Amino acid sequence: MRVFVLTGAGISAGSGLGTFRDAGGIWARFDPVKLATPAAFAADPGRVHDFYNTRRRAMLAAGPNAAHFALAELGEGLRTDGGALFLCTQNIDDLHERAGSRAVHHMHGRICRALCGACRVTVEWRGDLGVGDHCAACGRSGTLRPDVVWFGEMPYDMPEIEAALARADLFVAIGTSGAVYPAAEFVEIARTMGILTLEFNLEKSANAHLFDESVYGPAVESVPRFVARLLGTGDAGA
Ligand code: APR
Repeated sequence: MRVFVLTGAGISAGSGLGTFRDAGGIWARFDPVKLATPAAFAADPGRVHDFYNTRRRAMLAAGPNAAHFALAELGEGLRTDGGALFLCTQNIDDLHERAGSRAVHHMHGRICRALCGACRVTVEWRGDLGVGDHCAACGRSGTLRPDVVWFGEMPYDMPEIEAALARADLFVAIGTSGAVYPAAEFVEIARTMGILTLEFNLEKSANAHLFDESVYGPAVESVPRFVARLLGTGDAGA
């Protein structure tokens, strides 16, 4: 079986990382126009760096949870059976990788990498980033930014994502509100191709009506059960 899994901030909520649009979420406390756009970075790079430095520290201090580990197990299990997991995340944290998942497609980038706005080279960056830091590739300073896809920018890996969607037997969305495109339209694309669609979320998402099956509750509980059911391991109640 070829399974396409899309994850959002809700899967990392169980690791203590805030989501964006829930009550008290990141965008309820911070203005995305002033922090997550190229214009915001041009206007005040220091403020943008402070915001992402705080988030990077929180992400490095957090650990993967049972939902992340279950998806890593799913990847291994499907591979063993001759199938495949295509794991696409909107999250910029590295909790999927730290849980053991391979080939994670970060369509909105990764906070533990820095991107040079001048030469477009990216480098691993796990400390704070600032306007004084130099790009090791082109030597310029003030051009490094978090390797995060901001509003109005093209997501990463779209050709691979579209190809994997077209090949999938099952589409699963976990912990995403369905508010942000193009990720929010993946379920519609899957439906038009007759692929079974499942949603795991704390509550109804904006496109809940497009899913064949929806399971509501914390991902740390629902995802391990779903993986056990799919792999036929352990107690498999939905
Ligand atoms: N278990 C499962 N789902 C959860 C949990 C949990 N413990 N906690 C919250 N959720 C669900 C919420 O019900 C909500 O539907 O996760 C979803 C989180 O939605 P958002 O905060 O909108 O996050 P996401 O969908 O990932 O946002 C998409 O928007 O701001 C941009 O680039 C950013 O990648 C992000 C994108």
